[in-house]
Order: sequence, then C-alpha cells, then structure tokens
Amino acid sequence: MDRNKCLGTRCVSVVFIIALLAIPGLKCDSSVHVHSTYRVPLTSSTLNWLPISHYEPSKDKNLVIGGFQISKSTDENHEDPGQRRAMYVCRAAESGVWVAGAQLKGEKKCTVTVLGTVKNMENYDLLENVDNAARLSWVTWNKFLPIFPGAVVTETMYVARHVVASNETEKDSSTPTYTHYIGTLNHDERLGTIAYVKSDGLEDSTDFGELLVETEPIYYELTSVKLNHWRTRIIKSEPKIIGQATISNSRNQRAKLAEAFGYEYNYSSYWGQGHAMIKALNTSITLFNRTKLPTINWGMTEKSLRQDSYSVEVYLDPGTGVNVTVKANYTEHEVSYTGQLVSHYNDSESKSREISGIRREETMTDMRVEFGPIYFLSNLSIVPTTVAPSTTRGTTIITSSSSSSSTSETSSITTNRQNDVNNIVDNEDDDNSIIPPKSDSNVQGDDGGPQSLKNKDALGGATNLLPCLSISILSFLVTLYRIT
Ligand SMILES: *[C@@H]1O[C@H](CO)[C@@H](O)[C@H](O)[C@H]1NC(C)=O
Ligand SMILES: *[C@@H]1O[C@H](CO)[C@@H](O)[C@H](O)[C@H]1NC(C)=O
Ligand SMILES: *[C@@H]1O[C@H](CO)[C@@H](O)[C@H](O)[C@H]1NC(C)=O
Ligand SMILES: *[C@@H]1O[C@H](CO)[C@@H](O)[C@H](O)[C@H]1NC(C)=O
Ligand SMILES: *[C@@H]1O[C@H](CO)[C@@H](O)[C@H](O)[C@H]1NC(C)=O
Ligand SMILES: *[C@@H]1O[C@H](CO)[C@@H](O)[C@H](O)[C@H]1NC(C)=O
Ligand SMILES: *[C@@H]1O[C@H](CO)[C@@H](O)[C@H](O)[C@H]1NC(C)=O
Ligand SMILES: *[C@@H]1O[C@H](CO)[C@@H](O)[C@H](O)[C@H]1NC(C)=O
Repeated sequence: MDRNKCLGTRCVSVVFIIALLAIPGLKCDSSVHVHSTYRVPLTSSTLNWLPISHYEPSKDKNLVIGGFQISKSTDENHEDPGQRRAMYVCRAAESGVWVAGAQLKGEKKCTVTVLGTVKNMENYDLLENVDNAARLSWVTWNKFLPIFPGAVVTETMYVARHVVASNETEKDSSTPTYTHYIGTLNHDERLGTIAYVKSDGLEDSTDFGELLVETEPIYYELTSVKLNHWRTRIIKSEPKIIGQATISNSRNQRAKLAEAFGYEYNYSSYWGQGHAMIKALNTSITLFNRTKLPTINWGMTEKSLRQDSYSVEVYLDPGTGVNVTVKANYTEHEVSYTGQLVSHYNDSESKSREISGIRREETMTDMRVEFGPIYFLSNLSIVPTTVAPSTTRGTTIITSSSSSSSTSETSSITTNRQNDVNNIVDNEDDDNSIIPPKSDSNVQGDDGGPQSLKNKDALGGATNLLPCLSISILSFLVTLYRIT
C-alpha cells in the first residue's frame, strides 16, 4: 500500500523527501501529518486517515472521539442522565480545502463547515488511532498562542474543537446537546479562527478553543520480551573455520595448555518496524529473564563488527601435541517474539501496550572444537588410545569463550575478557601462546616429582601476581627452549 511509504520516520531528511513527494499530487491519502517546529509537517506513525469506504464498524478500530452528543431523556419521570453518543473526528475536502468535522457514531456523514457553508459529506476520512498507540490530547488554545508541535493537520489547517458552555445549550427543547463542536482552525485567517457547526446546523467561529495534539514518545522500552525459540527459522547457515592450531607440550612436565582463537564477524539484528511505531527512536530491550540487551534505534538494522575470542585448554603429557580446529556456523535466523512496549513521554508519563514481531539476527553460532589424536612430538606417532583426549584419565579438555562487541557507530572496539588467561594468550603470537598450569589443587597430583611441584608453585604464584610480565618472560624462555 501507498501508506507504508508514508509511515513515519524521525529522520528529517526522509520526511523532507516525503513532503516533496507528497506535494505535487502524489498524495499519501491515509497518512496523518502533525505540526512540527520544522518547516514541513511530520508524518504521524500512529495516526491514520481511514477512508469511510474502508471502514467496517465490526472491525475494532480505535477512532478518535472529539465529543459526545447527549440525548435528553424523553421519559420525564426518570432521572435519566441521557445517552452519550460518540462524535468521531472526520475530515473532508471541498474545492480542494480539507476541513475537519464530526461524524456521529452510527451515521455515515461527516458534518463540516467550509468557506461559510455547512455540508454533510458522504465521502470522507475518519481519524484512526492505530493500535491505540498515539497519545492524544485536546489542548487549550487561543489566538495569541502558536500552533503546538504535534497538532493534527487536516491538510493546511488543524483539527480543533469548541467547548460548548452550559449557557449555550437550549435547556427546554428535546433536541440533543453536545459537549463539543469539532471543527477546523484556519491559522491564516486573522490570527486564527476555529470554525464549527453548532447543534442547530449553523456555522459559528471563535478565536479560542482546543487543538488536537499528538505527543510523541521520547524513547521506547521493550520489556518482558519472549523469544519463541522453538519457532526459529534458519535463513542461512555457513560453516566457518574459526581457527586451526597445534597445541604441544614441549616442557618436561604435564601441563595445561591454552590457545585462544580470535575472530571477527559482522553482527546484525533487526526487530522489525511493527505497527504504529516511530522509526529510529531509542529503544531499550529487556528479555523475559531480565537480561538487558544494548539500546537500539527502533526499526533500523543494527550492524556491528564483533570481535570475539574462543579459547581452548588442554592437558598434555610432556612431549605430546594435539591438533585442534574450532568451527562455527555463521547463521541468519528469524525468531518471533512478544513483549510489552512502554512509550515514555517528555513529561515522564508512559503508555504501555503489547506488541509482537519477528527478530532477525546474523551471528556466529554453534561454536565447537574438534581435537585430532594426541601424538608424540618426537616421532609424530599417535599416543596409544588409552590417553586419547576427550575421555580417558588425566586428560581434561576445557573450552571457554568470551565475547565482546562494538557498534559500528562508535567504530571503537572494546573487548571484555573473562579471565586473565584469555588476556595473556591473546597478547601472544601463536607460537608463544602456551601458558603454564595454574597452581590449582585439581591439577596437582597428576604427575609426581618434587621438582615439578616446586616449578608449578613458582609459576602459579608468579602468574597470579604479575600475569603479563611473568607470561612474557615465560614465553620468551619457552621460545628459547624450542630453538635450542
Ligand atoms: C455564556 O457565559 C459566558 C460567561 O460564563 C459568557 O462569556 C458568554 O457570552 C455566554 N454565552 C451565551 C451564548 O450567553
Ligand atoms: C563485513 O561486511 C563488510 C561489508 O559489508 C565486508 O567488507 C567485511 O569483509 C565483512 N567482515 C567480515 C568479518 O565478514
Ligand atoms: C539514545 O540513547 C543513548 C544511550 O542511552 C543516548 O546516548 C542518546 O543520547 C539517546 N538519543 C536520543 C535521541 O535520545
Ligand atoms: C536469558 O535468555 C537469553 C535468550 O533466551 C539467554 O541467551 C540468556 O543466557 C538468558 N539469561 C539468563 C540470565 O538466564
Ligand atoms: C596436525 O597439523 C599439522 C599441520 O596442520 C599436520 O601436518 C599434521 O599431520 C597434523 N597431525 C595430525 C595428527 O592430525
Ligand atoms: C519537554 O518538556 C520540557 C519541560 O519539561 C519543555 O520545555 C520542552 O519543550 C518539552 N519538549 C517537547 C519536545 O515537548
Ligand atoms: C552448521 O551448519 C551446517 C550446514 O548448514 C549444519 O549441517 C550443521 O548441523 C550446523 N551445526 C550445528 C551445530 O547446528
Ligand atoms: C615415539 O616416541 C615416544 C617417546 O617420545 C615413544 O614412547 C613411542 O614408543 C615412539 N613411537 C614410535 C612408533 O616410535
């Protein structure tokens, strides 16, 4: 539909383009414009001019109510307060001039006054508050005040109403009375005049009244987000090799060795545009389990270059080595979600509604490590299966990963690491990325010998105290040892 092209965006330049498109005849029929402090009116993301031909009363649409008609009770004996009948805001065009008026609930005509003539229009639009998402209010206005930002525009004029005073209503007659008369503010006429149709069907005008104003939220908060993981749809899945390396223990004792694989990938996420939501508005997202996600701009694809590292640790006997390969799948998937959308306003008011949508994400998933057989460094023959990596005694394999991200906007890359081990390993070249066992009681006792214990304690203590320095020295020594 045309309407989608016109749905709101905060981006001034885009609005500008839309405005340029809208002016020469290519009119977006159903989009609602509101007054802005910029030169061009903004397009409301939450309001819609609904052509009466598209309106089905059975469908639950949120029509904007501008007042009520109160029918006097015909039964004199009862203290009947009278029946209230909603008056909906409508607009119609006469000779190219769009004016606002009222459509009584149940009727099929929009009563307007245009150029001094009262008309009952049959071809008109109703003002719809899509998903009841817009925060609307009637704000007192007089000719000495400017037009308020957010005032709803008919085309060149504004939706306004006159508050009917009690001395204006005919007390004696049985004709219905009105709480308000919906009309149009013409700002060009004198300092501004609101023209409306009275209960007797005649036109009147005033220089004070109320304007219909939409207040836009300043940010969104999407909370209690439930991702329906069982309905995940994989769009693409590319197997990736994150890294390959040979981890070897060239020292003279059993040791825990680690290798960190650094990698980067293009991360992207998109939560959809949703209904009646403002594009690019700041949105914080909290999952159902209270996990907070980074703040996004609503309706935009968030892209960033993410840097992660995956570290592999393995216990090896002296003189042995093992080949490791880290694999992953780079996937794009879609998952449906539901959540509570809270719109926050300037005056610290908020408005909440439930929304649902589909989130698309491109990320690295299914990280896994594959080990080759452990082999003797001296003759490359495979160590007898009794000491194969994954299952047998003494050989423990620990894998861990840490992740970080940086947004493309700031283009700075920050990396959070889980522990010192990753930090140290990351700073070394491949060849030097061997770290000593930590002085950990679980590790000790694997192999005997007073000398090795002494070494471990010394190394472990040093690691805890001066991680970077000690590791640098150690790796230097290891390198020397390898060369000799
Ligand atoms: C109704 O009362 C107000 C003051 O309360 C007065 O200014 C106004 O002229 C009155 N209108 C009519 C139609 O008598
Ligand atoms: C990320 O995307 C850009 C272009 O979209 C591409 O040039 C770059 O190689 C990608 N980076 C990675 C790590 O895939
Ligand atoms: C959006 O949120 C970020 C971080 O919370 C903040 O720095 C930025 O100023 C906000 N932008 C707007 C337009 O509110
Ligand atoms: C919350 O849920 C997300 C996604 O379902 C998950 O990745 C995350 O680990 C969970 N966090 C906690 C604290 O349970
Ligand atoms: C380990 O990797 C090296 C180099 O990639 C290769 O030459 C060697 O054959 C591999 N060894 C085993 C046991 O897979
Ligand atoms: C927000 O509120 C302040 C006062 O609290 C007001 O000065 C300002 O104009 C308001 N901004 C908008 C965009 O309504
Ligand atoms: C990774 O992707 C491949 C190819 O799409 C798929 O066969 C494999 O099952 C995926 N791996 C995991 C762990 O999901
Ligand atoms: C390879 O060397 C190790 C000792 O370094 C030895 O125990 C093993 O028997 C050797 N294997 C072969 C096939 O030579």
